Amino acid sequence: MTPIKIGSHALSSNVVLAPMAGVTDRAFRRLCRRFGAGLAASEMLTADVRLWDTPKSRRRMDHTDEPSPRVVQIAGYDPAMMADAARRNVDAGAEIIDINMGCPAKKVCNRLAGSALMQDEALVARILRSVVCAVPVPVTLKTRTGWNRDNKNGLAVAKIAEDSGDQALAIHGRTRADMYQGEAEHRTVAEIKSRVRIPVFANGDIDSPERARRVLEQTGCDGIMIGRGAQGRPWIFDEVNFFLGTGQLRAELALENVRDIMRAHLEDLYSLYGDKTGVRVARKHLSWYFRQHPGQEALRNRLVTTETPREQLRTLLENFDTGVHRAGHEYVVRRI
Ligand SMILES: Cc1cc2nc3c(=O)[nH]c(=O)nc-3n(C[C@H](O)[C@H](O)[C@H](O)COP(=O)(O)O)c2cc1C
Repeated sequence: MTPIKIGSHALSSNVVLAPMAGVTDRAFRRLCRRFGAGLAASEMLTADVRLWDTPKSRRRMDHTDEPSPRVVQIAGYDPAMMADAARRNVDAGAEIIDINMGCPAKKVCNRLAGSALMQDEALVARILRSVVCAVPVPVTLKTRTGWNRDNKNGLAVAKIAEDSGDQALAIHGRTRADMYQGEAEHRTVAEIKSRVRIPVFANGDIDSPERARRVLEQTGCDGIMIGRGAQGRPWIFDEVNFFLGTGQLRAELALENVRDIMRAHLEDLYSLYGDKTGVRVARKHLSWYFRQHPGQEALRNRLVTTETPREQLRTLLENFDTGVHRAGHEYVVRRI
């Protein structure tokens, strides 16, 4: 695959992490980049700078030790506010600004935002032009196939983005009205890809190397974007990159490697959020790590009720070193 170029940034891989609020914090982004994600956008940040003086927003704007190119996603409805938010994020180290028109949340700040903006194409154009003119870095757009199934205007929005100077698109193969229901349909994504010149990432339900290849073939897209498939499995980027490069499936990760990945992830979370919040955030990731592993419910339930980093780590490590290992749960060894 030819590496995608976004502005002056040639991506190390065309397989990228999808922005997910509450998931793609700095710890998770770094982890996914380490496993070969070509980009990892921040969790969406509201364009209303008056709301930035909170620990949550400050954390979302912190890119310490993140590899280049650093992508910040902003969401909002007002062109001038979006431009201002973009400028401030570039001043704080963002190297690409991504605009969220893909999130199905009904409203952000009590106004249309995210994918709801798709129903007002004139406003889409004003927002995109305003942001592109405001910053010296590339601007990208994340959107859906349309407003609803009767109004699949993803192509019109993609054209507006291209004409406004956006440098790449990510298209989730669902309409806003679909939320996350049903299966992603990539036919519309293929149609959009065939009608624009800027790079397009296909997004939606890509959770394995084989599916990644199928979606690339079906859509002709330049790259793919993976969201939920990376939850509890950040090494999916390595698996997909390897498969796309060689046609071979990666050998399963050794249990020791899995343990080390989880442990390092948890430690990163404690240091990012502090002990109390770190343990809470870690519970969510632990659930995902264990979600696909029948037979591990007891361990998972113990882990998600632990209260301190020490207790959480100890429970995890003890089980890796004894229970899980001795019981020889092949499935766990294969999949975690
Ligand atoms: C928990 C969660 C949070 C999300 N937050 C955002 C967000 O902040 N910005 C955005 O553009 N999309 C967001 N999305 C949508 C994802 O980026 C992605 O488009 C969607 O999950 C489909 O891809 P997937 O099937 O690979 O998960 C979110 C999705 C999930 C599951």
